[in-house]
Amino acid sequence: MQDRDLLRQAAAARSFAYSPYSGYQVGAALLCEDGTVYTGCNVENISYGGTICAERTAVVKAVSEGRQKFVKIAVSVSGEEPGIPCGLCLQFLSEFVDSEFILICGNCRDEYTVYSFKEILPAVFRSAAVHKAGE
Ligand code: THU
Repeated sequence: MQDRDLLRQAAAARSFAYSPYSGYQVGAALLCEDGTVYTGCNVENISYGGTICAERTAVVKAVSEGRQKFVKIAVSVSGEEPGIPCGLCLQFLSEFVDSEFILICGNCRDEYTVYSFKEILPAVFRSAAVHKAGE
């Protein structure tokens, strides 16, 4: 799957965004190792903390349907700046991806920048896992 094709799917998912509070639309498309693509959009809530980002929507859809191995994710946003996943989404992704996982971060005009996971989150929280392993 080409980066541009995955970004197109993310842009399509962006049209489903529910964002009456921020007015900012985000779409994500997550490519699994077996070729399946899961899309997601941001779903806001009047209790703002209940908002779910597009990236986590896509990851939750994938994991809940039995996929845990991911190759890359495309993110498409309604703004001019490329859609960089928030820290919480990166932490959430880190549960399932390795340092070579690819992030395609696009803006409203489908211009995009590509990052590897290790570039975008070079130091990731893993202490809980280390603690458990050392039990
Ligand atoms: N948002 C995402 O969907 N993904 C991110 O990585 C950052 C932020 C959403 C959450 C909220 O609905 C809106 O963008 C403004 O923060």
